Amino acid sequence: QTLLLGQTLRFTGNPLSDPWEDTVRIDSDGAVLIEGAHIKAVGRAGDLRKAHPQATVKDYGDRLICPGFVDAHVHYPQTAIIASWGKRLIDWLNTYTFPEEMRLSDPEYARDIAGRYLDLTLANGTTTVCSFATIAPTSVDAIFEAAAARGQRVVAGKTCMDRNAPDGLRDTAQSAYDDSKALIDRWHDKGRASYAITPRFTPTSTPEQLAALGALWSERPGCLMQTHLSEQVDEIAWVKDLVPHARDYLDTYEEHGLVRDRAVFGHAIHLTPREIDRLADSGASVVHCPTSNTFIGSGLFDMAQIAARRIPIGLATDTGGGSSFSMLRTMAAAYEIGQLRGTPTHAAQLMWLATAGSARSLHLHDKIGTLAEGYEADISILDLASTPAIKQRSENAKNTWAQLFATIMMGDDRAISDVWVNGVRRG
Ligand code: GUN
Ligand code: ZN
Repeated sequence: QTLLLGQTLRFTGNPLSDPWEDTVRIDSDGAVLIEGAHIKAVGRAGDLRKAHPQATVKDYGDRLICPGFVDAHVHYPQTAIIASWGKRLIDWLNTYTFPEEMRLSDPEYARDIAGRYLDLTLANGTTTVCSFATIAPTSVDAIFEAAAARGQRVVAGKTCMDRNAPDGLRDTAQSAYDDSKALIDRWHDKGRASYAITPRFTPTSTPEQLAALGALWSERPGCLMQTHLSEQVDEIAWVKDLVPHARDYLDTYEEHGLVRDRAVFGHAIHLTPREIDRLADSGASVVHCPTSNTFIGSGLFDMAQIAARRIPIGLATDTGGGSSFSMLRTMAAAYEIGQLRGTPTHAAQLMWLATAGSARSLHLHDKIGTLAEGYEADISILDLASTPAIKQRSENAKNTWAQLFATIMMGDDRAISDVWVNGVRRG
């Protein structure tokens, strides 16, 4: 048993649907008891010390003990091309992304990138990611093996593409089905791994491929299904050309059985009223990728509208379309987009999105994303005065929320004091 002492941040509800003050508390004299891989108790430092005198104490002083960050939409294979200049989505894919994803057909390079990626994200306090791999099944093995070596809970899937991608980066409807099925049977629910069936998006999957993956999903209904939806206006026009009979972009997935709960749609910026209604009815999740949406020039996600419809929302870096591995930076970008929309997001809501909200969007909310008894012990410790600039602001803050907000807006990996993964210290 290990007893972590510090300030604790605990959610008891969803601050996007209820007044945030009713859904979260910061305990300045808090404690988290870890036993093995799980959280055994969360409470006041004095109480837990008395009840568990034999536990090893780790005192973090006034640092903030939070759930580890959950990054709900990433492309780990794009680690080495993050921050590539000057292109919008389709040109960006063709110029930077596809050539790099081709390189990961070499299993050794894929292993190198998977390890590098997880080390970078752990250094940023991210304990779980939901990642696209490449078309190569071995790139899925690489990320799950790297995650297992670090004890991390990871969701991933083989990216399926059978059109509009270069030679060497296309599968077929049948091979996408066969390879995905074999990977599900190898990895899904093994240890902390879970599988997401992963058609990249409608422009790169024929209707036959989407149908094959829809059929696979009905055979393996416990998996997630992840893809992209309505990220850029040009992309939406292309989808309309490719599937002229569809009512809208979402319909191109819906007609193949790909819209239901456990579906996770990245971006979802430019939605029609019908698409929003359908998402709300279906139980599917959407994922906000704010640094990506500004970096690639995609548009402003309408969080207030989606939250009002109770559609589960995750938060994500979208590495490497996004410009940062840091969920702090990602929360800051979400705040900035909220400001441009006239709906500023409170620090509690941002933290919820980066932890419990993302976990909810991935159907992992009974395992991670919250500091509570029985949850897996994935924990990040934040230093709320990690740089001179943040420290001077923090000293002038009226409460911990204001200090936390300064760290969200100005912080980076230096703000991550320590990380615990599955009950093991990795910081
Ligand atoms: N749409 C299809 N593929 C991608 C990708 O790799 N990144 C982003 N941002 N959007 C996509
Ligand atoms: Zn993406």
